[in-house]
Amino acid sequence: MPAVDRTKLEQALHRERQAFISTHPRSAALSASARKNLLTGVPMAWMTRWPGSFPIFFSEAHGARVVDVDGIEYVDFALGDTGAMTGHAKPFITEAVHRQAGRGITTMLPSEDCIWVGAELERRFGLPLWQFALTATDANRFVLRIARYVTGRPKILVFDWCYHGTVDETLATMAPDGSTQLRPSNIGAQVHPAHTTKVVEFNDLEALEAALAPGDVACVLAEPALTNIGIVLPDPGYHDELRRITRETGTLLVIDETHTICAGPGGATAAWGLQPDMLTIGKPIGGGVPTAAYGLSAELGERVDEFFNSEGVDVSGIGGTLAGNALAAAAMRAALGNALRVDDFAVAIPLAERWAAGVAGVIDGKQLPWTVQRLGCRAEYWFCEPPRNGAEAAAAMDAELEAWFHLFMLNRGVLMTPFHNMALLSSSHVAADVDLHTRLFAAAVDEILK
Ligand SMILES: Cc1ncc(COP(=O)(O)O)c(C=O)c1O
Repeated sequence: MPAVDRTKLEQALHRERQAFISTHPRSAALSASARKNLLTGVPMAWMTRWPGSFPIFFSEAHGARVVDVDGIEYVDFALGDTGAMTGHAKPFITEAVHRQAGRGITTMLPSEDCIWVGAELERRFGLPLWQFALTATDANRFVLRIARYVTGRPKILVFDWCYHGTVDETLATMAPDGSTQLRPSNIGAQVHPAHTTKVVEFNDLEALEAALAPGDVACVLAEPALTNIGIVLPDPGYHDELRRITRETGTLLVIDETHTICAGPGGATAAWGLQPDMLTIGKPIGGGVPTAAYGLSAELGERVDEFFNSEGVDVSGIGGTLAGNALAAAAMRAALGNALRVDDFAVAIPLAERWAAGVAGVIDGKQLPWTVQRLGCRAEYWFCEPPRNGAEAAAAMDAELEAWFHLFMLNRGVLMTPFHNMALLSSSHVAADVDLHTRLFAAAVDEILK
């Protein structure tokens, strides 16, 4: 079986790093100035994860294309890690934002667009009652509070190697002895997550049942398929059992659709007929404008409504000054009204199938022990068999190989998300974009095999 030649890989990576530096002089200069006042040289520390010695600075993005300050154009398969799944700078978004910005952005009052958005979210995801937040992180934070209030239980449960944003309780993994531990190298935990959180492996029903049996867990917060450690799909029947066990133990089920909206207009919830008590979503629903939403079942909604309407209630802890502002509402209305619809997925999903087939063709042709996974318009390759849970997925990560593919692509005009090997396809991509990736993937593989 062919194998990666690590010496060749190291040398090739060195060559690509040199090429990157020489072809991105303007980004290099901006990066040097950025270090003066921006901690880590970027506005957000995770931007240091881009391959190459510094991140490229972008000047414009349209549809599925990004142009950097050195004038280089890229096919963008990262799409703002889902935030730009609608495509960049779509006229329906820019016009709505422009229109609303000229009429007032934030006022402490509701705007009419919020009503349309609430109805559209019910149509897509099935839950009747909605609130807005500014980020998916915040939406998750708020639903955890609601779950604890409604159940009176102290803990939550998440899956090993999940990611639900910067929510303290979710930044946990499972230790080899099954206990909850801090995510490795994670910064400054407020409290040790063992106090707040139980962690089990995705697809392990026995462990789930055991963890929920004591009745101290307010909710399971779950992505329908793991996406942040790479795509890990549920076993057949897994979601039915997850719902049965949560119901039997009086545990609420929260589904986080922030990434799995890639499965279709109503995310995996609609595509797979899931029945969450609450649902969270952020990123693409405002077409790139910061906004998020969380939905509640009628029964939960009634209880929370009663709480908020009771005398002397403290509303802090849920919401935020700018959440649900008129600009965000207008952006959500424009995004959900004109993008991420059945017709858009009818373009994006076949492109993702083509992307996955192209990569699989190269893998099979070379008889490599690698695989491709796909969920709707999101696709990803692995340097192993498809993992069944977060621990297997984490163990299969290969930082050097990932850096190789990412940088090889970037140096040839293709942007992949800087974490793992994921590509997001949108209705703004075309078949030629996908075929370019397939050709480059084949060439990148050829350079590093023994
Ligand atoms: C499933 C999921 N939920 C929530 C979040 C948090 O989103 P944000 O960083 O926009 O708050 C992310 C971010 O990647 C995510 O993948």
